[in-house]
Amino acid sequence: MNDTGSAPRAPEVVAPGSVDRLVDRFGRVHTDLRLSVTDRCTLRCTYCMPLDATFKPREELLTFDECVRVVTVAAGLGVRSVRVTGGEPLLRVGLPDLIARLVAVPGIEEVALTTNGLLLGAQAAALRGAGLHRLNVSLDALDDETFRRIARADGLERVLAGLEAASAAGFTGIRVNAVSIRGITEAQAVPLARHCRRGGFHLRFIEFMPLDAESAWSGAQVLTGHEVRQILERELGPLVPAPGADPGQPAVDWRFADGSLVGFIDPVSHPFCDRCDRLRLTADGQFRNCLFSTSEWDARAVLRAGGDDLDARLARLLLDCTAAKLAAHGIGDPDFERPARAMYQIGG
Ligand code: 5AD
Ligand code: SF4
Repeated sequence: MNDTGSAPRAPEVVAPGSVDRLVDRFGRVHTDLRLSVTDRCTLRCTYCMPLDATFKPREELLTFDECVRVVTVAAGLGVRSVRVTGGEPLLRVGLPDLIARLVAVPGIEEVALTTNGLLLGAQAAALRGAGLHRLNVSLDALDDETFRRIARADGLERVLAGLEAASAAGFTGIRVNAVSIRGITEAQAVPLARHCRRGGFHLRFIEFMPLDAESAWSGAQVLTGHEVRQILERELGPLVPAPGADPGQPAVDWRFADGSLVGFIDPVSHPFCDRCDRLRLTADGQFRNCLFSTSEWDARAVLRAGGDDLDARLARLLLDCTAAKLAAHGIGDPDFERPARAMYQIGG
């Protein structure tokens, strides 16, 4: 019913009040979709992937047409922002084309990308040209040896060059994500903060979550946001809370005396599940209602079965996935069950 002549398709097709929204049993409204476009990566970060990772065959990944179709249906159910993730999304050939198409989906207000930065130097300008709104770059260490220890590959120089290229291409408010791991991040926090201050990047520390492929995670390996903040304050001076404009953001920002910000995403020490507004689609087309979800809803099967009511069935799947969402991830509970997939197979 979307090709009925020349009238543009309005984002709202049903009167407000009767429109289905992605609201779960706890009243959380879901407006953010994380879209993984590949499980492949140029790095092998210990907290995300095994060294000998195997990847989904190409034909199991959603095509760009399929991604756009899902996002269009999701937008009709109130999704307003899409974050493209991986693996490493810039490995997907022609990614700027997908970005441009996502930006054009009626109802989508923000398209963001999370990348490890290695391929950013080559692609920053094209991504900017495609209309990408926001960029998150993962960077955990500022010396080669530590970078290599975490990522199990070289690349620090290229990530730093990628960040510069992104700034030069006109991106502002670039976020740098650092996973905080005990025994590693203590020595990296201050150099990262200094580098990001100088470059005008918004640094955020993310507590290490049990999504590593080698199941080596333990609570003792999490360097908490509070601990990182103490390290920063010792070296760089006091931090004061800087309440963010967006309550949906899991990061809590703090401000240095010079006005620069540093954020903390503390899913382990301070779970923010009660504010969660996210759903996920894996690169192989499975909806998930949480990073730690142990169930999936098969969008790829619906997409490939075809039929006149395909969009309605996709919408039903998203509504079912949302309805089944649990109150919280339960990390730390005695009966916590790790998801079968690791981070690279879900999407950050
Ligand atoms: N715990 C916390 N953050 C993680 N990321 C990947 N794996 C983990 C984990 N186990 C981060 C990456 C990237 C984002 C997609 O998620 O560093 O910034
Ligand atoms: Fe690649 Fe990101 Fe996973 Fe590291 S965390 S292996 S950069 S997908």
